[in-house]
Amino acid sequence: MIGITGATGGIGSAVIRHLLAAGRDDLLALARRPEALPPGPTARRADYDEPASLTEAFRGLDTLVMVSSDGTAETMARHHRNIIAACPPDVHIVYTSIIDIAPDSRFYYAPGHRETEALLADRPHCLARTSVFADFFTATWLGSAANGTASNGIATDTGELALPLGDAGTSLVAREDVARALAAAATARIEGAVDLTGPEALTGDQIAAAATAAHGKPLRYKPIDDADYRERLAADGGPEWLIEAYASMFRSVREARFAAAPGDVERLTGTPPTTFAEYLRR
Ligand SMILES: NC(=O)c1ccc[n+]([C@@H]2O[C@H](COP(=O)([O-])OP(=O)(O)OC[C@H]3O[C@@H](n4cnc5c(N)ncnc54)[C@H](OP(=O)(O)O)[C@@H]3O)[C@@H](O)[C@H]2O)c1
Repeated sequence: MIGITGATGGIGSAVIRHLLAAGRDDLLALARRPEALPPGPTARRADYDEPASLTEAFRGLDTLVMVSSDGTAETMARHHRNIIAACPPDVHIVYTSIIDIAPDSRFYYAPGHRETEALLADRPHCLARTSVFADFFTATWLGSAANGTASNGIATDTGELALPLGDAGTSLVAREDVARALAAAATARIEGAVDLTGPEALTGDQIAAAATAAHGKPLRYKPIDDADYRERLAADGGPEWLIEAYASMFRSVREARFAAAPGDVERLTGTPPTTFAEYLRR
């Protein structure tokens, strides 16, 4: 039996869809709001803040697709500790980590993912290290740019994507490709670390060109520095931790920590990862 956490979310729901399409009928959809799940596999309540619910939810599993949690770094790490503590030691855990995992990374979430990876070391596990999701990047920074509204400190009414991306590139990966790869890793009980990235590392100019072509509205990349970006985020009124999360992610992008490509999506699934241009056209 394969359990999937975050089953109401983008990755979790797509993993379930891919496993069902592959003919698996031994799935458990795990969610803190099982009532929000669409009809499908058996649902169980699993709230990361309620360890007892996790112990119940994980009963009978052979494999757990552990979709990482969200919120502040401390919340995420606490949720992961609770999940791993409640999961029987022989269960194979496929965990969505990040490719920016090096000890000298300053990315806000990197320590939490490193801690979680370490907690998995003594048990069957697959560390599915993901790059930045194309869906997340588009919704957070391009969606507003395409529509000409301002968000996250970006002055998009001028058709500008103002971000501190540097020149190293970001290997944006479609969530759909991540989900396909997670489903494959769970089915084949893959051990060790795999990199789930897009096919190529894109610069700000390339991202803006792809968005221009897909949306039919000119978008120009405008490089800004870290301080300018933080000021724009602060002006938007976001919490301190979120400013740190976004700004430190772009610092890692500039340091080429999210540039690795093409990764292991094709090896795991038999299909190459979607290009960002294809992703935007869908
Ligand atoms: N690589 C990237 O670019 C990137 C970007 C953003 C996030 N992430 C990470 O990737 C993960 C998956 O991404 P996604 O797009 O699938 O996120 P998503 O659509 O926001 O889904 C997050 C899931 O986590 C569940 N969740 C949150 N808190 C919970 C709790 N206390 N107990 C049980 N479930 C809880 C949510 O349940 P509800 O529906 O009840 O809220 C939801 O099902 C995120 O959680 C985050 O760790 C990666």
